Amino acid sequence: MAAVSNSLRRQIEKLEAQFTVDDEKLKAISRHFVGELEKGLSKEGGSLPMNPTWIVSLPDGNEQGTYITLEIGGTNVRVHQITLTGRTSQFDRISSEWGIPKDIKSADADTFWDFVAGCLDKFLEQHPDAREKKLPLSLIFSYPVTQDHINAGILQRWTKGFNVSGVEGQDVVPMFREALMRRQIPVTLEVLTNDTTATLIASAYADPRTRIGCIFGTGCNAAYMEDCGSIPKLAHLRLPPDMPMAINCEWGAFDNERKVLPRTPYDVTIDDTSPRPGQQVFEKMVAGLYLGEIFRLVLLDFHDNRAVGIFEGQDVSKLREPYSLDSSILSLVAKDESKDHREIRHFFQSKLGLTCRDAELELVRRASTVILMRAARLVACGIAAICTKKGYESCRVGAEGSLIEKHPRFRGVLTQSLRRILDWPDKKNPNDEDPVEIIISGGSGLGAAVVAELTLRRIREGNTYGVLQVAQS
Ligand code: BGC
Repeated sequence: MAAVSNSLRRQIEKLEAQFTVDDEKLKAISRHFVGELEKGLSKEGGSLPMNPTWIVSLPDGNEQGTYITLEIGGTNVRVHQITLTGRTSQFDRISSEWGIPKDIKSADADTFWDFVAGCLDKFLEQHPDAREKKLPLSLIFSYPVTQDHINAGILQRWTKGFNVSGVEGQDVVPMFREALMRRQIPVTLEVLTNDTTATLIASAYADPRTRIGCIFGTGCNAAYMEDCGSIPKLAHLRLPPDMPMAINCEWGAFDNERKVLPRTPYDVTIDDTSPRPGQQVFEKMVAGLYLGEIFRLVLLDFHDNRAVGIFEGQDVSKLREPYSLDSSILSLVAKDESKDHREIRHFFQSKLGLTCRDAELELVRRASTVILMRAARLVACGIAAICTKKGYESCRVGAEGSLIEKHPRFRGVLTQSLRRILDWPDKKNPNDEDPVEIIISGGSGLGAAVVAELTLRRIREGNTYGVLQVAQS
Protein backbone atom coordinates (compact mmCIF):
# COMPACT_ATOMS: atom_id res chain seq x y z
CA MET A 1 0.00 0.00 0.00
CA ALA A 2 1.37 3.43 -0.95
CA ALA A 3 2.16 5.47 2.12
CA VAL A 4 1.29 9.14 2.29
CA SER A 5 4.34 11.11 1.19
CA ASN A 6 5.51 14.30 2.81
CA SER A 7 5.04 16.21 -0.41
CA LEU A 8 1.40 15.09 -0.60
CA ARG A 9 0.89 16.14 3.01
CA ARG A 10 2.31 19.57 2.24
CA GLN A 11 0.10 19.97 -0.82
CA ILE A 12 -2.98 18.99 1.18
CA GLU A 13 -2.09 21.50 3.88
CA LYS A 14 -1.88 24.20 1.20
CA LEU A 15 -5.28 23.15 -0.09
CA GLU A 16 -6.74 23.36 3.41
CA ALA A 17 -5.32 26.85 3.80
CA GLN A 18 -6.89 27.89 0.49
CA PHE A 19 -10.33 26.78 1.68
CA THR A 20 -10.05 28.15 5.21
CA VAL A 21 -12.03 31.29 5.96
CA ASP A 22 -11.05 32.55 9.40
CA ASP A 23 -13.44 34.10 11.91
CA GLU A 24 -12.41 37.69 11.15
CA LYS A 25 -13.07 37.16 7.47
CA LEU A 26 -16.46 35.59 8.26
CA LYS A 27 -17.37 38.68 10.24
CA ALA A 28 -16.27 40.95 7.39
CA ILE A 29 -18.29 38.94 4.87
CA SER A 30 -21.33 39.06 7.14
CA ARG A 31 -21.04 42.84 7.54
CA HIS A 32 -20.87 43.24 3.77
CA PHE A 33 -23.88 40.93 3.49
CA VAL A 34 -25.96 43.22 5.75
CA GLY A 35 -25.24 46.14 3.41
CA GLU A 36 -26.19 44.06 0.37
CA LEU A 37 -29.51 43.02 1.96
CA GLU A 38 -30.28 46.72 2.49
CA LYS A 39 -29.24 47.65 -1.04
CA GLY A 40 -31.46 44.98 -2.52
CA LEU A 41 -34.46 46.49 -0.72
CA SER A 42 -33.65 50.03 -1.85
CA LYS A 43 -35.21 51.78 -4.85
CA GLU A 44 -31.90 51.64 -6.72
CA GLY A 45 -31.50 47.94 -6.00
CA GLY A 46 -28.27 45.96 -5.73
CA SER A 47 -27.00 42.58 -6.79
CA LEU A 48 -29.25 40.73 -4.31
CA PRO A 49 -32.74 40.66 -5.86
CA MET A 50 -34.51 40.71 -2.42
CA ASN A 51 -37.81 39.79 -4.08
CA PRO A 52 -41.05 40.69 -2.27
CA THR A 53 -43.27 37.60 -2.39
CA TRP A 54 -46.71 38.87 -1.26
CA ILE A 55 -46.79 36.42 1.60
CA VAL A 56 -48.02 38.92 4.16
CA SER A 57 -48.59 36.89 7.30
CA LEU A 58 -47.29 33.88 9.17
CA PRO A 59 -49.50 30.87 9.91
CA ASP A 60 -50.70 29.90 13.38
CA GLY A 61 -50.80 26.14 12.77
CA ASN A 62 -54.60 25.94 12.66
CA GLU A 63 -54.97 26.40 8.90
CA GLN A 64 -57.27 24.00 7.08
CA GLY A 65 -57.70 22.87 3.48
CA THR A 66 -56.53 20.48 0.77
CA TYR A 67 -54.09 21.62 -1.90
CA ILE A 68 -51.94 20.23 -4.68
CA THR A 69 -48.42 21.60 -4.59
CA LEU A 70 -45.96 21.20 -7.42
CA GLU A 71 -42.31 22.03 -6.97
CA ILE A 72 -39.92 22.67 -9.83
CA GLY A 73 -36.52 22.33 -8.18
CA GLY A 74 -33.00 21.95 -9.50
CA THR A 75 -33.14 18.16 -9.68
CA ASN A 76 -36.75 16.98 -9.37
CA VAL A 77 -40.36 17.85 -9.94
CA ARG A 78 -42.25 16.96 -6.76
CA VAL A 79 -46.03 16.79 -6.54
CA HIS A 80 -47.89 16.56 -3.24
CA GLN A 81 -51.48 16.50 -2.17
CA ILE A 82 -51.50 18.15 1.24
CA THR A 83 -54.36 18.32 3.67
CA LEU A 84 -53.98 20.82 6.50
CA THR A 85 -56.17 19.33 9.17
CA GLY A 86 -56.86 22.44 11.24
CA ARG A 87 -55.43 20.75 14.32
CA THR A 88 -52.28 22.45 15.56
CA SER A 89 -49.61 22.00 12.90
CA GLN A 90 -51.00 18.65 11.67
CA PHE A 91 -51.18 17.63 8.03
CA ASP A 92 -51.51 14.61 5.73
CA ARG A 93 -49.43 14.28 2.61
CA ILE A 94 -49.21 12.05 -0.45
CA SER A 95 -46.29 12.65 -2.77
CA SER A 96 -44.52 11.59 -5.94
CA GLU A 97 -41.41 12.89 -7.61
CA TRP A 98 -39.78 12.73 -11.02
CA GLY A 99 -36.15 13.52 -11.92
CA ILE A 100 -35.76 16.33 -14.44
CA PRO A 101 -33.80 14.89 -17.41
CA LYS A 102 -30.73 16.83 -18.56
CA ASP A 103 -32.22 17.68 -21.97
CA ILE A 104 -35.35 19.16 -20.38
CA LYS A 105 -33.16 21.62 -18.43
CA SER A 106 -32.11 23.24 -21.70
CA ALA A 107 -35.20 22.53 -23.87
CA ASP A 108 -37.55 25.13 -25.33
CA ALA A 109 -40.30 26.56 -23.14
CA ASP A 110 -43.18 24.41 -24.47
CA THR A 111 -41.24 21.17 -24.04
CA PHE A 112 -40.25 22.18 -20.54
CA TRP A 113 -43.77 23.15 -19.39
CA ASP A 114 -45.27 20.04 -21.03
CA PHE A 115 -42.85 17.91 -19.06
CA VAL A 116 -43.84 19.62 -15.81
CA ALA A 117 -47.57 19.38 -16.59
CA GLY A 118 -47.02 15.71 -17.52
CA CYS A 119 -45.70 15.02 -14.00
CA LEU A 120 -48.86 16.49 -12.51
CA ASP A 121 -50.99 14.47 -14.95
CA LYS A 122 -49.25 11.27 -13.83
CA PHE A 123 -49.82 12.18 -10.19
CA LEU A 124 -53.53 12.71 -10.82
CA GLU A 125 -53.71 9.39 -12.69
CA GLN A 126 -52.33 7.74 -9.56
CA HIS A 127 -54.80 9.66 -7.37
CA PRO A 128 -58.16 9.92 -9.21
CA ASP A 129 -59.84 11.40 -6.08
CA ALA A 130 -57.62 14.45 -6.33
CA ARG A 131 -58.44 14.84 -10.04
CA GLU A 132 -62.17 14.82 -9.36
CA LYS A 133 -61.90 17.50 -6.67
CA LYS A 134 -60.35 20.09 -9.05
CA LEU A 135 -58.07 21.25 -6.25
CA PRO A 136 -56.24 24.57 -5.97
CA LEU A 137 -52.60 24.33 -7.05
CA SER A 138 -49.69 26.04 -5.34
CA LEU A 139 -46.60 26.21 -7.57
CA ILE A 140 -43.14 26.22 -6.01
CA PHE A 141 -40.78 27.71 -8.54
CA SER A 142 -37.25 27.57 -7.15
CA TYR A 143 -35.75 30.32 -9.31
CA PRO A 144 -35.63 34.12 -8.96
CA VAL A 145 -38.83 35.79 -10.10
CA THR A 146 -40.14 39.35 -9.90
CA GLN A 147 -43.56 39.19 -8.29
CA ASP A 148 -45.89 42.14 -8.50
CA HIS A 149 -48.53 39.60 -7.49
CA ILE A 150 -48.50 36.33 -5.62
CA ASN A 151 -50.06 34.59 -8.60
CA ALA A 152 -47.55 35.86 -11.16
CA GLY A 153 -43.76 35.74 -11.50
CA ILE A 154 -41.42 37.01 -14.17
CA LEU A 155 -38.32 34.86 -14.34
CA GLN A 156 -35.29 37.06 -13.72
CA ARG A 157 -32.78 34.41 -14.76
CA TRP A 158 -32.30 30.68 -14.68
CA THR A 159 -29.93 29.32 -12.06
CA LYS A 160 -28.59 25.85 -11.07
CA GLY A 161 -27.47 25.10 -14.65
CA PHE A 162 -30.97 25.46 -16.20
CA ASN A 163 -31.15 27.11 -19.61
CA VAL A 164 -34.69 26.63 -20.96
CA SER A 165 -35.15 29.08 -23.82
CA GLY A 166 -37.97 31.62 -24.02
CA VAL A 167 -38.75 31.80 -20.29
CA GLU A 168 -36.43 34.49 -18.90
CA GLY A 169 -38.21 37.84 -18.78
CA GLN A 170 -41.61 36.13 -19.04
CA ASP A 171 -44.36 35.49 -16.50
CA VAL A 172 -44.12 31.74 -15.82
CA VAL A 173 -47.68 31.45 -14.48
CA PRO A 174 -49.58 31.88 -17.79
CA MET A 175 -47.04 29.58 -19.48
CA PHE A 176 -47.72 26.86 -16.98
CA ARG A 177 -51.48 27.47 -17.07
CA GLU A 178 -51.43 26.98 -20.86
CA ALA A 179 -49.55 23.71 -20.49
CA LEU A 180 -52.15 22.58 -17.94
CA MET A 181 -54.93 23.51 -20.33
CA ARG A 182 -53.30 21.67 -23.26
CA ARG A 183 -53.56 18.52 -21.16
CA GLN A 184 -56.90 19.50 -19.65
CA ILE A 185 -55.58 19.08 -16.14
CA PRO A 186 -58.35 20.04 -13.72
CA VAL A 187 -56.55 22.25 -11.17
CA THR A 188 -56.60 26.01 -10.56
CA LEU A 189 -53.18 27.60 -10.20
CA GLU A 190 -53.58 30.04 -7.31
CA VAL A 191 -50.14 31.05 -6.03
CA LEU A 192 -46.48 30.95 -6.93
CA THR A 193 -43.94 30.56 -4.15
CA ASN A 194 -40.19 30.17 -3.94
CA ASP A 195 -38.87 27.07 -2.12
CA THR A 196 -37.24 29.22 0.58
CA THR A 197 -40.44 31.11 1.41
CA ALA A 198 -42.32 27.81 1.37
CA THR A 199 -39.76 26.39 3.81
CA LEU A 200 -40.04 29.47 6.02
CA ILE A 201 -43.83 29.09 6.13
CA ALA A 202 -43.69 25.32 6.67
CA SER A 203 -41.47 25.86 9.71
CA ALA A 204 -43.57 28.71 11.03
CA TYR A 205 -46.63 26.43 10.76
CA ALA A 206 -45.00 24.17 13.35
CA ASP A 207 -43.00 26.72 15.34
CA PRO A 208 -44.04 30.37 15.72
CA ARG A 209 -40.48 31.38 16.58
CA THR A 210 -39.46 30.85 12.92
CA ARG A 211 -38.29 33.98 11.09
CA ILE A 212 -35.99 32.66 8.34
CA GLY A 213 -36.22 29.85 5.79
CA CYS A 214 -33.18 28.39 4.02
CA ILE A 215 -32.53 25.86 1.29
CA PHE A 216 -29.24 23.98 1.35
CA GLY A 217 -29.82 21.67 -1.60
CA THR A 218 -28.89 21.69 -5.27
CA GLY A 219 -29.17 25.46 -4.93
CA CYS A 220 -28.84 27.69 -1.88
CA ASN A 221 -30.96 30.61 -0.78
CA ALA A 222 -32.85 32.21 2.12
CA ALA A 223 -36.08 34.08 2.80
CA TYR A 224 -37.15 36.05 5.87
CA MET A 225 -40.00 38.23 7.14
CA GLU A 226 -39.55 41.97 6.61
CA ASP A 227 -41.87 44.90 7.43
CA CYS A 228 -43.22 46.75 4.41
CA GLY A 229 -42.02 50.03 5.97
CA SER A 230 -38.43 48.77 5.57
CA ILE A 231 -38.78 48.03 1.85
CA PRO A 232 -38.13 51.38 0.11
CA LYS A 233 -38.61 49.85 -3.35
CA LEU A 234 -42.28 49.21 -2.45
CA ALA A 235 -42.86 52.70 -0.96
CA HIS A 236 -44.90 53.79 -4.01
CA LEU A 237 -47.53 51.17 -3.14
CA ARG A 238 -48.23 52.79 0.24
CA LEU A 239 -48.60 49.49 2.03
CA PRO A 240 -49.16 49.53 5.81
CA PRO A 241 -45.60 50.00 7.19
CA ASP A 242 -46.05 47.31 9.84
CA MET A 243 -47.48 44.76 7.40
CA PRO A 244 -45.10 41.78 7.21
CA MET A 245 -43.79 40.68 3.82
CA ALA A 246 -41.72 37.59 3.15
CA ILE A 247 -38.63 38.51 1.15
CA ASN A 248 -36.89 35.98 -1.03
CA CYS A 249 -33.28 37.18 -0.79
CA GLU A 250 -31.89 35.16 -3.72
CA TRP A 251 -28.61 35.26 -1.86
CA GLY A 252 -26.93 33.01 -4.41
CA ALA A 253 -26.16 36.31 -6.20
CA PHE A 254 -24.26 37.67 -3.19
CA ASP A 255 -20.93 39.22 -4.17
CA ASN A 256 -21.41 38.85 -7.91
CA GLU A 257 -19.08 41.90 -7.94
CA ARG A 258 -16.43 39.67 -6.31
CA LYS A 259 -15.49 42.07 -3.55
CA VAL A 260 -15.32 39.89 -0.44
CA LEU A 261 -15.58 36.19 -1.15
CA PRO A 262 -12.25 34.38 -1.05
CA ARG A 263 -12.47 32.40 -4.29
CA THR A 264 -10.05 29.60 -5.15
CA PRO A 265 -8.98 28.77 -8.71
CA TYR A 266 -11.52 25.91 -8.56
CA ASP A 267 -14.36 28.39 -7.94
CA VAL A 268 -13.14 30.49 -10.84
CA THR A 269 -13.17 27.45 -13.17
CA ILE A 270 -16.70 26.52 -12.09
CA ASP A 271 -17.92 30.03 -12.77
CA ASP A 272 -16.08 30.40 -16.09
CA THR A 273 -17.39 27.09 -17.45
CA SER A 274 -20.99 27.54 -16.21
CA PRO A 275 -23.83 28.58 -18.55
CA ARG A 276 -23.94 31.93 -16.65
CA PRO A 277 -20.45 33.18 -15.76
CA GLY A 278 -20.42 36.02 -13.23
CA GLN A 279 -23.85 35.11 -11.85
CA GLN A 280 -24.68 33.29 -8.58
CA VAL A 281 -21.09 33.65 -7.39
CA PHE A 282 -21.97 32.81 -3.75
CA GLU A 283 -24.21 29.90 -4.73
CA LYS A 284 -21.38 28.41 -6.79
CA MET A 285 -19.27 28.19 -3.59
CA VAL A 286 -21.89 26.77 -1.25
CA ALA A 287 -24.64 24.81 -3.04
CA GLY A 288 -24.88 21.06 -3.50
CA LEU A 289 -24.78 21.27 -7.29
CA TYR A 290 -21.29 22.73 -7.14
CA LEU A 291 -19.65 21.12 -4.09
CA GLY A 292 -19.20 17.74 -5.80
CA GLU A 293 -17.76 19.56 -8.81
CA ILE A 294 -15.28 21.53 -6.67
CA PHE A 295 -14.21 18.22 -5.12
CA ARG A 296 -13.78 16.63 -8.56
CA LEU A 297 -11.68 19.58 -9.77
CA VAL A 298 -9.43 19.28 -6.70
CA LEU A 299 -8.81 15.56 -7.27
CA LEU A 300 -8.10 16.14 -10.94
CA ASP A 301 -5.72 18.99 -10.17
CA PHE A 302 -3.76 16.78 -7.77
CA HIS A 303 -3.60 14.03 -10.38
CA ASP A 304 -2.72 16.20 -13.37
CA ASN A 305 -0.57 18.96 -11.98
CA ARG A 306 1.20 17.82 -8.86
CA ALA A 307 3.88 15.17 -8.52
CA VAL A 308 2.25 13.50 -5.53
CA GLY A 309 1.17 10.16 -6.98
CA ILE A 310 -2.62 10.49 -6.91
CA PHE A 311 -4.40 7.78 -8.96
CA GLU A 312 -1.04 7.15 -10.59
CA GLY A 313 -1.18 4.76 -13.55
CA GLN A 314 -4.99 4.61 -13.38
CA ASP A 315 -7.54 5.60 -16.00
CA VAL A 316 -9.10 8.84 -14.76
CA SER A 317 -11.37 9.37 -17.77
CA LYS A 318 -14.56 9.13 -15.70
CA LEU A 319 -13.19 11.64 -13.21
CA ARG A 320 -12.67 14.02 -16.13
CA GLU A 321 -16.41 14.22 -16.84
CA PRO A 322 -17.75 17.56 -15.55
CA TYR A 323 -20.38 17.22 -12.82
CA SER A 324 -19.86 13.45 -12.61
CA LEU A 325 -19.82 13.81 -8.80
CA ASP A 326 -22.53 15.46 -6.77
CA SER A 327 -22.45 16.60 -3.17
CA SER A 328 -23.62 13.19 -1.90
CA ILE A 329 -19.97 12.10 -2.14
CA LEU A 330 -19.16 14.56 0.66
CA SER A 331 -21.78 12.97 2.92
CA LEU A 332 -20.63 9.48 2.01
CA VAL A 333 -17.03 10.32 2.91
CA ALA A 334 -18.05 11.96 6.20
CA LYS A 335 -20.22 9.01 7.19
CA ASP A 336 -17.69 6.27 6.41
CA GLU A 337 -15.98 5.82 9.75
CA SER A 338 -14.96 2.22 9.09
CA LYS A 339 -11.28 1.45 9.64
CA ASP A 340 -10.61 0.48 6.03
CA HIS A 341 -12.96 3.14 4.54
CA ARG A 342 -14.88 0.47 2.71
CA GLU A 343 -17.68 2.75 1.48
CA ILE A 344 -15.32 5.34 0.04
CA ARG A 345 -13.22 2.72 -1.73
CA HIS A 346 -16.31 1.01 -3.07
CA PHE A 347 -17.71 4.32 -4.36
CA PHE A 348 -14.55 5.25 -6.23
CA GLN A 349 -14.23 1.76 -7.68
CA SER A 350 -17.81 1.39 -8.83
CA LYS A 351 -18.54 4.94 -9.92
CA LEU A 352 -15.19 6.07 -11.33
CA GLY A 353 -13.26 2.82 -11.83
CA LEU A 354 -10.52 4.10 -9.51
CA THR A 355 -8.68 2.37 -6.70
CA CYS A 356 -8.17 4.45 -3.55
CA ARG A 357 -4.95 3.71 -1.71
CA ASP A 358 -3.77 5.49 1.46
CA ALA A 359 -2.62 8.56 -0.45
CA GLU A 360 -5.92 9.00 -2.28
CA LEU A 361 -7.91 8.36 0.89
CA GLU A 362 -6.00 11.05 2.72
CA LEU A 363 -6.70 13.58 -0.02
CA VAL A 364 -10.36 12.53 -0.44
CA ARG A 365 -11.11 12.82 3.26
CA ARG A 366 -9.37 16.10 3.88
CA ALA A 367 -10.52 17.78 0.65
CA SER A 368 -14.16 16.83 1.21
CA THR A 369 -13.98 18.15 4.77
CA VAL A 370 -12.59 21.58 3.86
CA ILE A 371 -14.97 22.04 0.94
CA LEU A 372 -17.96 21.25 3.15
CA MET A 373 -16.71 23.37 6.05
CA ARG A 374 -16.13 26.38 3.87
CA ALA A 375 -19.68 26.10 2.50
CA ALA A 376 -21.23 25.82 5.97
CA ARG A 377 -19.17 28.76 7.27
CA LEU A 378 -20.06 30.99 4.34
CA VAL A 379 -23.81 30.36 4.57
CA ALA A 380 -23.57 31.21 8.27
CA CYS A 381 -22.50 34.72 7.15
CA GLY A 382 -25.83 35.11 5.36
CA ILE A 383 -27.94 33.91 8.29
CA ALA A 384 -25.97 36.09 10.70
CA ALA A 385 -26.51 39.06 8.36
CA ILE A 386 -30.29 38.60 8.36
CA CYS A 387 -30.30 38.29 12.18
CA THR A 388 -28.16 41.43 12.47
CA LYS A 389 -30.31 43.40 10.05
CA LYS A 390 -33.49 42.43 11.89
CA GLY A 391 -31.98 42.72 15.36
CA TYR A 392 -32.85 39.11 16.18
CA GLU A 393 -31.01 37.81 19.22
CA SER A 394 -32.83 34.53 18.92
CA CYS A 395 -35.07 32.83 16.37
CA ARG A 396 -35.65 29.59 14.49
CA VAL A 397 -34.42 29.00 10.96
CA GLY A 398 -36.44 26.45 8.99
CA ALA A 399 -34.20 24.56 6.59
CA GLU A 400 -34.41 21.97 3.88
CA GLY A 401 -32.10 20.32 1.35
CA SER A 402 -29.71 17.46 0.95
CA LEU A 403 -26.71 19.13 2.64
CA ILE A 404 -28.49 19.94 5.88
CA GLU A 405 -30.52 16.72 5.87
CA LYS A 406 -27.83 14.25 4.85
CA HIS A 407 -24.40 15.60 5.73
CA PRO A 408 -23.57 14.66 9.32
CA ARG A 409 -21.50 17.80 10.00
CA PHE A 410 -23.07 20.60 7.96
CA ARG A 411 -25.49 21.83 10.61
CA GLY A 412 -22.92 21.62 13.42
CA VAL A 413 -20.33 23.66 11.51
CA LEU A 414 -22.98 26.17 10.47
CA THR A 415 -24.15 26.70 14.06
CA GLN A 416 -20.60 26.90 15.37
CA SER A 417 -19.83 29.57 12.77
CA LEU A 418 -22.92 31.55 13.76
CA ARG A 419 -21.60 31.46 17.34
CA ARG A 420 -18.29 32.94 16.17
CA ILE A 421 -19.80 35.60 13.91
CA LEU A 422 -22.46 36.71 16.38
CA ASP A 423 -20.20 36.39 19.44
CA TRP A 424 -22.51 34.12 21.41
CA PRO A 425 -21.12 33.09 24.78
CA ASP A 426 -20.16 29.44 25.20
CA LYS A 427 -22.97 27.11 26.26
CA LYS A 428 -23.12 26.36 29.97
CA ASN A 429 -24.66 22.99 29.29
CA PRO A 430 -24.25 21.05 26.01
CA ASN A 431 -28.02 20.49 25.89
CA ASP A 432 -28.83 24.22 26.04
CA GLU A 433 -30.50 25.55 22.90
CA ASP A 434 -28.53 27.88 20.65
CA PRO A 435 -29.99 31.39 20.28
CA VAL A 436 -30.49 30.72 16.57
CA GLU A 437 -31.52 27.11 15.99
CA ILE A 438 -31.57 25.53 12.54
CA ILE A 439 -34.56 23.18 12.31
CA ILE A 440 -35.42 20.82 9.46
CA SER A 441 -38.77 22.05 8.16
CA GLY A 442 -41.85 19.97 7.32
CA GLY A 443 -40.97 20.46 3.64
CA SER A 444 -41.58 23.17 1.08
CA GLY A 445 -44.65 21.26 -0.22
CA LEU A 446 -46.31 21.74 3.16
CA GLY A 447 -45.28 25.40 3.18
CA ALA A 448 -46.72 26.00 -0.29
CA ALA A 449 -50.07 24.52 0.81
CA VAL A 450 -50.10 26.82 3.85
CA VAL A 451 -49.22 29.81 1.63
CA ALA A 452 -52.17 28.97 -0.64
CA GLU A 453 -54.50 28.69 2.35
CA LEU A 454 -53.28 31.97 3.89
CA THR A 455 -53.70 33.72 0.54
CA LEU A 456 -57.14 32.37 -0.31
CA ARG A 457 -58.29 33.16 3.21
CA ARG A 458 -57.14 36.78 3.06
CA ILE A 459 -58.75 37.19 -0.37
CA ARG A 460 -62.04 35.92 1.12
CA GLU A 461 -61.59 38.47 3.89
CA GLY A 462 -61.09 41.26 1.35
CA ASN A 463 -57.31 41.71 1.62
CA THR A 464 -56.23 41.52 -2.01
CA TYR A 465 -52.81 43.21 -1.79
CA GLY A 466 -50.62 41.71 -4.47
CA VAL A 467 -53.23 39.41 -5.97
CA LEU A 468 -53.86 39.53 -9.72
CA GLN A 469 -57.49 38.98 -10.72
CA VAL A 470 -57.62 36.27 -13.41
CA ALA A 471 -60.40 34.17 -14.86
CA GLN A 472 -59.42 30.50 -14.83
CA SER A 473 -61.41 27.86 -16.63
C1 BGC B 1 -32.55 29.82 -6.90
C2 BGC B 1 -33.47 30.14 -5.74
C3 BGC B 1 -33.73 28.88 -4.94
C4 BGC B 1 -32.44 28.19 -4.57
C5 BGC B 1 -32.68 26.89 -3.81
C6 BGC B 1 -31.31 29.07 -6.44
O1 BGC B 1 -30.56 28.68 -7.53
O2 BGC B 1 -32.17 31.00 -7.57
O3 BGC B 1 -34.69 30.69 -6.19
O4 BGC B 1 -34.44 29.23 -3.79
O5 BGC B 1 -31.70 27.91 -5.73
O6 BGC B 1 -33.41 25.99 -4.56
